[in-house]
Amino acid sequence: MRKKEIGLETTLFHRDTWAEVNLDHIRKNISSMKTRLGTGVSLFAVVKANAYGHGDYEVAKTALEAGADFLSVAFLDEALALRKKGITAPILVLGVSRPESASLAADQGISVTVFDDAWLESASAQLKPGQVLQVHVKVDSGMGRIGIRDKNKLMKVEGLLKEKKCFNFQGIFTHFATADELDTDYYEKQLAAFKGMLTVLTGRPDFVHAANSAASLRFADPVWNAVRMGIAMYGLSPSVEMKPLLPYPLQQAISLKTKLVAVKQLVKGESVSYGATYTAQGNEWIGTLPIGYADGWIRKLQGQEVLIDGIRVPIVGRICMDQCMIKLPGFFPAGTEVTLMGNDGDESITVDEIAAKLETINYEVTCMIGARVPRIYMKDHQLQHVRNFILE
Ligand SMILES: Cc1ncc(COP(=O)(O)O)c(C=O)c1O
Repeated sequence: MRKKEIGLETTLFHRDTWAEVNLDHIRKNISSMKTRLGTGVSLFAVVKANAYGHGDYEVAKTALEAGADFLSVAFLDEALALRKKGITAPILVLGVSRPESASLAADQGISVTVFDDAWLESASAQLKPGQVLQVHVKVDSGMGRIGIRDKNKLMKVEGLLKEKKCFNFQGIFTHFATADELDTDYYEKQLAAFKGMLTVLTGRPDFVHAANSAASLRFADPVWNAVRMGIAMYGLSPSVEMKPLLPYPLQQAISLKTKLVAVKQLVKGESVSYGATYTAQGNEWIGTLPIGYADGWIRKLQGQEVLIDGIRVPIVGRICMDQCMIKLPGFFPAGTEVTLMGNDGDESITVDEIAAKLETINYEVTCMIGARVPRIYMKDHQLQHVRNFILE
């Protein structure tokens, strides 16, 4: 979007801070993965946590248009939210659902994750005659989080799934803890453990899935016929060390932008923000940005650079709840666009740069962008849609 085009949407949100999501990049990241997977391997697009902060509905729709076969979320409420917005594609809840929710999930055609025979007994009592709940069985092959670790238990669960007509054994899966690390030992142990568990099944369900983005980008294994793609769909590498191993270029989908809302000149000795931690060394132009830690732009980003007119300038003083200040190289008028993440001219600030500054992972950076920040969706280089969560 060219700078002058920002403002067309002023009736849809009223604060000049927004996240721009490039749906073409999401589409490209999926089609590159599909090409890599070839035929016969289904793609589950992971859209939990509001699609890693990008917006659940828009990403889900784009992913399905780009050829994703299934969606995955963490919690039943996230799946219900997608249904409410009109998404009819199959959705798998990866986390734990209550047995009391079985009837609702079945009614909405939402698949659930199960790893306990007692859960199945309780759920079967909740399901109404004729209802069929789609079940994916989770195996804990070494993540130590949720899943069956014991072959006898898996046999019991499979037995119940076959015996009770209110269930359809739709899938079995596991999750890798270290697929994004260069050392593959633990990954291989987990894969072997998963395969070992599968040997006790009397039959295979429709979907056997294990690979997340990292494993899908690096490995292929005949044991799985579906992958769960999260971070790579958003154009981000599963880890820094994996970047040189990426089989195709990923295209970051998200940018975070704002505008100067106030510009002032401080004289030597005057300070900025809470705690007066930054003091002007001479006459300095200071700009105020309408974004703060309540938006996910947290206090640890003090000192981080942002882009204005293609130039890197630092955030000075403490980041406030709703605002922060930058040191300008000279006067800029209020209303000038500022890029917190994304490209401006020849400069760019990646999600990974922010993650490095925060000593965290890129996943956390995009998930942290708060609901107060409207999302602007770009498709075919056009503004397609604006979503303002707090006015929904
Ligand atoms: C069970 C499960 N599968 C798949 C994913 C997607 O992982 P990634 O974003 O690394 O592709 C996640 C993400 O945390 C997950 O918890």
